[in-house]
Amino acid sequence: MIRLGLLASHSGSNLGAIIAACREGRIAATPVVVIGNNSGAFALERARHAGIRVVHLSNQTHPDPAALDTAMAATLAAHDVDLVVLAGYMKRLGPQMLERWRGRIVNVHPSLLPKFGGKGMYGERVHAAVLAAGEAVTGATIHHLTEEYDQGPIIAQVLVPVEPGDTAATLAARVLPHEHALYVDTLARIARGDLILPELSVDRGTKVRLRDAEAQSE
Ligand code: GRF
Repeated sequence: MIRLGLLASHSGSNLGAIIAACREGRIAATPVVVIGNNSGAFALERARHAGIRVVHLSNQTHPDPAALDTAMAATLAAHDVDLVVLAGYMKRLGPQMLERWRGRIVNVHPSLLPKFGGKGMYGERVHAAVLAAGEAVTGATIHHLTEEYDQGPIIAQVLVPVEPGDTAATLAARVLPHEHALYVDTLARIARGDLILPELSVDRGTKVRLRDAEAQSE
């Protein structure tokens, strides 16, 4: 069972869907820690209710960005996290995080990237841009997280129709459940080893054995 570290900022409906799927065995993974940058976020309540360790780390707890980056990496490492899952996390990750979990950080975005992504494109702004562009179809994307907002390699997508008369709110409401389903399905495939992330060993035994071998070779 791979160990998930989840990052969230607000409502946490994606986080809730992932936690439920892990608990019900639909994802062969264990959420071991949730990091939030907003101490009042409902996402953190969801995690506490599920009995998952919650850590508030933000520019309030760590005004210095490098210290925050270190604290986030240390918290995830202390919980022996295999895969970092951003679920509505609005802050940019620091260089230590990106380096230490390179290839093992995934994110969900509520459009068909690369369209309607990038700095400032989050929440209902994304859906407003989709409507303004006159798109007939939108959707959601799971992608690798890299230095640039929403630029990482795409892992999975789902298409969602735009309906006549849609507003940003009605479109957001239609897309969100598809995000949940896409995220759960994608994480399940990763955890089973059906969808390969080269940097991630889903057979933790192998990972531990490799670490032991490295230790013995020193
Ligand atoms: C979702 O639309 C997600 O795609 C985006 O922010 C929203 C977060 O929703 N990153 P929630 O916090 O998971 O409910």
